[in-house]
Amino acid sequence: MNGISLHDLAPEALASLDEVVRGLHSPQKELPCKLLYDERGSELFEQITALDEYYPTRAEMRIMRGAGAEMAARLGAESVLIEYGSGSSTKTRILLQHLERPTGYVPIDISREQLERSTQSLSEAFPELRVMPVCADYTGSLELPRMVGRAGRRVAYYPGSTIGNFVPEDARRFLARIAEVCAPTGGLLIGVDLKKDPLMLHRAYNDALGVTAAFNLNVLRRLNRELGANFALDQFRHYAFYNPVFARVEMHLVSLSEQVVRLGRASIHFDRGESIWTEASYKYTLSDFAQLAARAGWRVAQVWTDDRTLFSVQYLVLS
Ligand code: AVJ
Repeated sequence: MNGISLHDLAPEALASLDEVVRGLHSPQKELPCKLLYDERGSELFEQITALDEYYPTRAEMRIMRGAGAEMAARLGAESVLIEYGSGSSTKTRILLQHLERPTGYVPIDISREQLERSTQSLSEAFPELRVMPVCADYTGSLELPRMVGRAGRRVAYYPGSTIGNFVPEDARRFLARIAEVCAPTGGLLIGVDLKKDPLMLHRAYNDALGVTAAFNLNVLRRLNRELGANFALDQFRHYAFYNPVFARVEMHLVSLSEQVVRLGRASIHFDRGESIWTEASYKYTLSDFAQLAARAGWRVAQVWTDDRTLFSVQYLVLS
């Protein structure tokens, strides 16, 4: 890969049978949403970002194009950019075009294939840039390559409103960990999806082409392949809805029949209509998020939104 060595923390070990079986034995069956992002899942997610109904990516891209220079100025010259969940790194390109003499770029992603692809193409686009890719599950404690420590002031980038996948208490804990990584002088540029008409949310997670459904169901295909489970994919249906009580979109897989699924030595019983909860996607108001950030040691220094106020990109500094 271009002579760039990938710092590999072997995140696939995370699809551990124990963790999965435990989740499927709880009263509300659940799976960690990071399991959605194997190679096929990451591809399907890329397709989601291009769907008419899926507004977040387009809104965030518009914000980045309009304010990329201002954001880069906030991030400051000669800093190391650390990106959590870099995916295809599309938005990062806009930042990198404006950043003044960045001393390094550290993309962290759980999908090795995607990390390799984006590292390759970013190094071609920015030949001067020192790219230090890390393949890891960034929700665990993770150790950055040693050279990152010497590279300069650290600024984090966490786009895509992936913060919405954490329940608020876990989101606070994660933001506090980023604060430790970037202390004392760094910052955090973060994408945060905003509360809006539930119908618009509903459409975004129930697209007409069924790509989101395929993305959700792919997690069962993955368990079959990697953990030797025997889920019948046609016996489960994608079900996503906005829950206004918790201000989150919930994605579930609903069992269409009473059935028993094997997973290693475990047997999982499903009632007809019972669900596996696969993802939460919390939506915030600007003041909700400012409060959450404050509880994690951050202060909101600047907020950019699109013209319809669907999405926000926020620059946080340590308070
Ligand atoms: C990339 C995690 C922010 O929650 O909107 C898209 C993932 N799930 N459609 C989101 C997703 C269903 C997405 N995040």
